[in-house]
Amino acid sequence: MIDRQKLGSSWHPVALSSEISGSVPLARQCRGREYVLFRDRKGVARALEDRCAHRRAPLSMGQINDAGQIQCPYHGWTFEGDSGRCVAIPNLGKNEAVPGDYRVEKYPLVEKWGLAFLWVDAGKEADENLLPKLDFKAGKQGSEGEALLTLPWRAFVDTLLDAPSLVLAEKGMSIIDDHLLGEPFREDGWFVVERAATWSRRGGKRKLVPADYPLVFRTRLDSFTGIACLELVDEGNRLLFSVVIASVPVTGTVTAAYWRVARQYRSEPALDGKLADKCRSIELAVSDKVDARRLLQVHPYVSGYWRGDINVYSIEQASARKGKAS
Ligand code: FES
Repeated sequence: MIDRQKLGSSWHPVALSSEISGSVPLARQCRGREYVLFRDRKGVARALEDRCAHRRAPLSMGQINDAGQIQCPYHGWTFEGDSGRCVAIPNLGKNEAVPGDYRVEKYPLVEKWGLAFLWVDAGKEADENLLPKLDFKAGKQGSEGEALLTLPWRAFVDTLLDAPSLVLAEKGMSIIDDHLLGEPFREDGWFVVERAATWSRRGGKRKLVPADYPLVFRTRLDSFTGIACLELVDEGNRLLFSVVIASVPVTGTVTAAYWRVARQYRSEPALDGKLADKCRSIELAVSDKVDARRLLQVHPYVSGYWRGDINVYSIEQASARKGKAS
């Protein structure tokens, strides 16, 4: 039996790294609060409360100056990103200094795997070690995206485990949701489940038999943050494709998901031309359309196991029941 999980860290994904710039401020909401993200002159991503210390105008409507500080659009107060301190007030007299306690709240922001994570727990020190260890480099060939789903966050994470194809848009390959390859297991802090996958076929659907499943689709979930790493592996155990997905509840019924894709098939040893072509055709993204009717039919085999609600024996029983029914 697996212990019941305590899911939810204070690191929340808020943006793709590529969205944060040193020229245009980015407004983001997270857990009911508003933030402004930008890069300082050194290119470090910064997060401040999106409310000016003067009269509460949104700093995200302002501009970033040459020194990499953010200037309020209303009366021009200027704040630095690493401390949140106000460093300039345009209408101060020559001999007046900016009072040292004029500032806005600053928040720790880290970038990992091409995604930006905000620390929102004011009561605790930001700890990067709470993010999972993951060897993931998207490189120049990677793609990325973000989606808003009308689905509670916990249901989104559970569905990634139970029926990933319901919340993913696949191209070039198909995930066989109900064909698990053995029991879920734990590895290096990840909860892992493997299922069959196959290349997409031209010429419509046909009945598949297990011999048609040349690929393994692996879902790795970090129990603490809900960050998922999805991997596609071929029959030679070569990692072909992987996606990191980080998600956060926006409201009780809406989830924001950010993802970044790495195409490992380009790394050594190089794949033969036909396989490389197939890999090139693969796309995997979080879908912003979820089929609610299909979702209601999903059996929580894997998420129940992950949460400790059911054990492997009941997974096997449920699979056997499903087999008899079909
Ligand atoms: S409200 Fe920002 S400077 Fe006045």
